[in-house]
Amino acid sequence: MNNGMYLALDFPTWEMSKQFLEENNLHEVPVKVGMELFYREGMHVIEELKKRNHPIFLDLKLHDIPTTVMRAMKNLAHAEVDLVNVHAIGGSEMIKRAKEGLTCVNDKTKLIAVTILTSMDEMEMARDLRLPNNINDNVLHLSTLAKQSGADGVVCSVHEVRAIKEACSNEFLTVTPGIRLMNSKDDDQKRVATPAMAKELNSDYIVIGRSITMAEQPFDAYKQALEEWENGITK
Ligand code: C5P
Repeated sequence: MNNGMYLALDFPTWEMSKQFLEENNLHEVPVKVGMELFYREGMHVIEELKKRNHPIFLDLKLHDIPTTVMRAMKNLAHAEVDLVNVHAIGGSEMIKRAKEGLTCVNDKTKLIAVTILTSMDEMEMARDLRLPNNINDNVLHLSTLAKQSGADGVVCSVHEVRAIKEACSNEFLTVTPGIRLMNSKDDDQKRVATPAMAKELNSDYIVIGRSITMAEQPFDAYKQALEEWENGITK
């Protein structure tokens, strides 16, 4: 069962990830595998997680020339995970080819496009990327581009969900990282929100990592986050 809350398995190895999941009784919970773990373990980690019935978001954020992304997606599609992603900033042709690569192998995996990373604020976006306008405008523009190019949804912050749904349709998926429990640190995330806010603002999936993995009692933190996410109430 997919409860819509992907736990970010940001650990260096499968052994450490497995230990964390087992020690904290996090059986069959949805998980996100990112670059750190995948670059170390490759498809092996996906197979192990599938054996244990974890729904999987494979967060590799592809960004390359369209043909390379299409071929890479074709390979990743064999993993038959729920979600994979690309950077929307790679452009329309790249997103279209990513979708083509996926759908020629399976029609289950959803293609998600990253808009502006939730670790960025307006000042950094203007200074480093030299993108004009504000974050909301750029996120909306990239979401519309992603939708027109065949993506099934976007990664964005909770604060952008409403405008994206209005511009792209309610069915267009929003996957929101930058989730923090009230009492945890922001770390490097800038556009943060609680699981309850994500629920209230109509996010489809949330991604949560350090608020749980760095908590003194990870199982309790997981339970609290899930309760907030399912009921929309901050405890
Ligand atoms: O620990 P934390 O909850 O900040 O983890 C967020 C996870 O979501 C990290 O694995 C990060 O790579 C990922 N992510 C993100 N922003 C995006 C896409 C993915 O923070 N736009």
